Amino acid sequence: TMSKIQLTDMNGQSHILDAVEGWRVMEIIREHGFDVGGLCGGACACATCHVEVDGQWLEKLHPANDDEEAMLDTVPVLTDGSRLSCQIIFTPELDGLAVRLVANG
Ligand code: FES
Repeated sequence: TMSKIQLTDMNGQSHILDAVEGWRVMEIIREHGFDVGGLCGGACACATCHVEVDGQWLEKLHPANDDEEAMLDTVPVLTDGSRLSCQIIFTPELDGLAVRLVANG
C-alpha cells in the first residue's frame, strides 16, 4: 500500500496525501495542489517551503544541515518543528509523517 503524509492546511483542516518514496516532501505536497511555496525548486535557497513538522516525527528526520538552518533563520515565524520541506526526502520509514503548512510571508 501507498505511504501517506498527513497534512494540516492553513485552515487547520487535515488531509491524507499519497507519498512517493524518493520525492521531496515539498514536491509531494505541491503535487496534491497545496500552496507550499517551493520557489527555488528545492535548492534550499528560498525558505518558501517552510513547514512545521509534528513533534513526534521530528526525531525521525535527519537534522537540518547548516544550509537549511541558515535559510530557516529567514522565516517570519520559527518554531521547534520548523523545517524546509524540500530538504526532507520521503522514505517508507516516514509513512504517516505529520506536517503543517504555515504562513511564510
Ligand atoms: Fe526553496 Fe525549499 S523550495 S528552500
